[in-house]
Amino acid sequence: MATARTVRGAVVIVTGASSGIGAETARELARRGALVALAARRVEELAGVERAIQDAGGQALAMPTDVMEARAVARLVERTVEVFGQVDVVVNNAGIGARLRYDQLAFEEIARIVQVNLLGAMLVSRAALPGMLERHHGAIISVASVAGLIATDPAYSATKFGLRGFALGLRRELRGTGVSVSLVSPGFIRTPLTAGRRGSGRLPGPEIVARAIARLIEHPRREAVVPSYYRGAIWAERLLPFVADRVLGGRR
Ligand SMILES: NC(=O)c1ccc[n+]([C@@H]2O[C@H](COP(=O)([O-])OP(=O)(O)OC[C@H]3O[C@@H](n4cnc5c(N)ncnc54)[C@H](OP(=O)(O)O)[C@@H]3O)[C@@H](O)[C@H]2O)c1
Repeated sequence: MATARTVRGAVVIVTGASSGIGAETARELARRGALVALAARRVEELAGVERAIQDAGGQALAMPTDVMEARAVARLVERTVEVFGQVDVVVNNAGIGARLRYDQLAFEEIARIVQVNLLGAMLVSRAALPGMLERHHGAIISVASVAGLIATDPAYSATKFGLRGFALGLRRELRGTGVSVSLVSPGFIRTPLTAGRRGSGRLPGPEIVARAIARLIEHPRREAVVPSYYRGAIWAERLLPFVADRVLGGRR
């Protein structure tokens, strides 16, 4: 299934493209010659990313989209096909965190986290898949998290474990179809999502995730963990979960 592809000329939908990892991924892929469809809710921020890409000589199309809305998601894919001809790659990146301890979260907030982080990715993938399967060509890359491998914040981790389950299952179902499915699982990255955390200024920037996504398009594989120094902690969680309970427990 894992055939090498090129970013140049590929039509890529990036969700959550108005800031952070999504905006950087869109800029990186456009720099490498991709045609990028930018999806997120904030119209001005999205237009700013579109402008920056076009000013640098790239091709981008801002499409204000709420991934919680099935009809908006269907329109996103239809419009991308109208403008760019097809969809080669989906980058499921839109995501939100939980700002409070689980017992303090409102029901609506819990539902929103699941809808954006998990259902949103499932809907965008579903909308883009028929065209990819018809052409026996495509890639679906989902931005999960180290929190989908090491349980941390309950609501957020639930969605990222779920997103990994979705992607890994879809990867098996699509074996042999020409459509690859991959995950990128970042650790802490310097973006608006982590702004305000202690030491956030020293975190690696979103460009390392953007480059990992470009590599996954060119050389599809199951999962990339970035930065790679999180791999030790992931093994420790698997082999010594009771130690991880002690280290991570009661932290919020
Ligand atoms: N930063 C980290 O340390 C880190 C680590 C691991 C994984 N991640 C994952 O990386 C992804 C990007 O996060 P980030 O750090 O770049 O944070 P960010 O800068 O806050 O970006 C989140 C993006 O998601 C979009 N979004 C939120 N709700 C949406 C909705 N209903 N429909 C469409 N788009 C929506 C936001 O755009 P609008 O508000 O304009 O809609 C924004 O563009 C997330 O999935 C996050 O879980 C981040």
